[in-house]
Amino acid sequence: MKEQITTLLNEVEQFATDSKEQIEAFRIKILGSKGVLKDLFAEFKNVPNEQKKEVGQLINELKEKAQEKVNALKEQLEGLASTNANDIDLTRTSYPFELGSKHPISIVRKEIIDIFSRIGFTVSEGPEIEDDWHNFTALNFPPEHPARDMQDTFFVKNDGEEMALRTHTSSVQVRIMENTKPPIRTLSPGRVYRNEAISARAHCFFHQVEGLYIAEKVSFADLKQTLMYFAKEMFGEKTEIRLRPSYFPFTEPSAEMDVSCSVCNSKGCNVCKYTGYLEILGCGMVDPNVLENCGIDSKKYSGFAFGMGIERIAMLKYKVNDLRLYSEGDIRFLSQFKKAF
Ligand code: DAH
Repeated sequence: MKEQITTLLNEVEQFATDSKEQIEAFRIKILGSKGVLKDLFAEFKNVPNEQKKEVGQLINELKEKAQEKVNALKEQLEGLASTNANDIDLTRTSYPFELGSKHPISIVRKEIIDIFSRIGFTVSEGPEIEDDWHNFTALNFPPEHPARDMQDTFFVKNDGEEMALRTHTSSVQVRIMENTKPPIRTLSPGRVYRNEAISARAHCFFHQVEGLYIAEKVSFADLKQTLMYFAKEMFGEKTEIRLRPSYFPFTEPSAEMDVSCSVCNSKGCNVCKYTGYLEILGCGMVDPNVLENCGIDSKKYSGFAFGMGIERIAMLKYKVNDLRLYSEGDIRFLSQFKKAF
């Protein structure tokens, strides 16, 4: 009888299934009212007295183990059922992650920097709250000079001293020239401020990139070649440039650069106002007065500078028709630039 019980104990231990029916069959076979245990208890009275204790313990062990096994298998089955059927739907699509996107101004700024860095330009930055010297005087705007009115300025007081919110990034070229020995080849991107009524075409703050190249024997031809390279990289190989004479206090001679309209291939459209060209930047040879103001020998060195508005370039590239869109933070506008990086 002991052997029979030991075999049954083994059987109980080995038993495994994930079928409800098989668990029930197993329960009936061992623990049921006509099951194995019932028979064993019935036979127990025939066991010799000296073995009763040992056999009795074995029978009880078998009963406990069988009950435990049935309970464990049932629990396991319920667990499987609830995870499978209720908690996880494997056919459901995953949650989409909402990724942000780069701002068009950041995309275009990076593109401009990348283009010029390929021909050796570094990046330098300066403060947005600027003194009169760096924003105006060193750049050849004498006090009371009418050219100061070209840029309506916001003024702030700092410890009693009147400071300006820089009206252009040309202020950074002064700082670079004051602190660096030529040759200098650098780009200065940054935010600038002007006291303008906000509209689709004007804003009280926007972004510029300033370029500066100072070395021996730099000529207007170098300026033209550099800008042509930039225009073709930025707007496409077929782009043509046009330089028109202009005036800036800090450059002599000065020019404004137009690029051929890529929307209509210069045939004339409402983007280029039927001129075939779009104005994108101001430039010129750095005025010798400016070089001297910054401690650079104008007899030995010459250079060129240029400045462009990032919003303007982004407007042309992405056909944005309202400057205000750049600073409103409207997701409907911003999410359109998702694929752009
Ligand atoms: N600072 C000028 C502006 O804000 C842009 C500019 C024109 C920069 C000519 C230059 C330049 O460096 O040479 O309108």
